[in-house]
Amino acid sequence: MAAKAFKALILGPPGGGKGTLSKRLVRDFGFKHFSAGDALRAEISAGSALGQKAKDYIAQGALVPDELVTDLVLGQLATLRNEPRWLLDGFPRHMAQAVALDAKHEVDLVLDLDIPEAEILSRLGGRRVHVASGRSYHVEWNPPKKEGIDDETGEPLVTRPDDTAEAITRRLQQYHDLAKPLVDHYAKSGRDVQTFAGTESDVIYPVMKEHVAKVLHVRDIAALARGMVSELGC
Ligand code: AP5
Ligand code: MG
Repeated sequence: MAAKAFKALILGPPGGGKGTLSKRLVRDFGFKHFSAGDALRAEISAGSALGQKAKDYIAQGALVPDELVTDLVLGQLATLRNEPRWLLDGFPRHMAQAVALDAKHEVDLVLDLDIPEAEILSRLGGRRVHVASGRSYHVEWNPPKKEGIDDETGEPLVTRPDDTAEAITRRLQQYHDLAKPLVDHYAKSGRDVQTFAGTESDVIYPVMKEHVAKVLHVRDIAALARGMVSELGC
């Protein structure tokens, strides 16, 4: 029987660095990364019925209704059943989504980002993305090799339609209203929840990496011990 997958969430404000830090966790720990926002943008690019419905909500910085998002995310997660570990970014955003996720998946680890609002506002105006891959750049902090062009594909980069001042304000407001109950929910249900505060992904990442390594190691040891116990017939 395949070992149970290790399931992690990354929570945090818009522009908090979820995508940036996820990329590093994928590189260092081989997580399969799934971003709800990237999946919705892929639906929009593909011109699907779901993408058509989601498009205006996203451009305005509003949450996309659950009946569109939840099935999309849970459906994608179902395809990851043979992955040893996955990292979910941007889902859940509120308690109803957490309840839907809990019904299907037992989360092992929650990585929560606490980033000051002033930092977020300065970041998002400079963000440029490659839509097909979700790769994200920043005009000053992490510029592409050639201005406006994705390093890996040579395709054009775009500014996300929800990176306008009005949409960012709305996304931040929503986040503040809905995020804390989520973190409390996972902490109360005994999950490993760790908050990382700061302004620099380069400073946050080493601390996060150490924590993830510790949690994965502890789990491996527990699995090993269970295996030894069952081999001994205890
Ligand atoms: P989503 O794509 O998830 O957007 P978000 O949560 O608003 O977060 P972002 O992707 O904007 O930021 P991030 O935390 O990934 O930061 P990043 O690494 O890019 O969702 C978009 C929309 O889809 C939602 O608004 C909603 O409409 C809809 N949606 C998605 N999920 C949904 C759900 N579950 N339910 C309903 N609707 C849903 O970093 C940001 C920028 O900062 C980058 O340019 C980066 O290069 C730069 N940066 C990172 N670190 C640093 C640093 N240290 N210094 C300077 N710049 C930095
Ligand atoms: Mg993101």
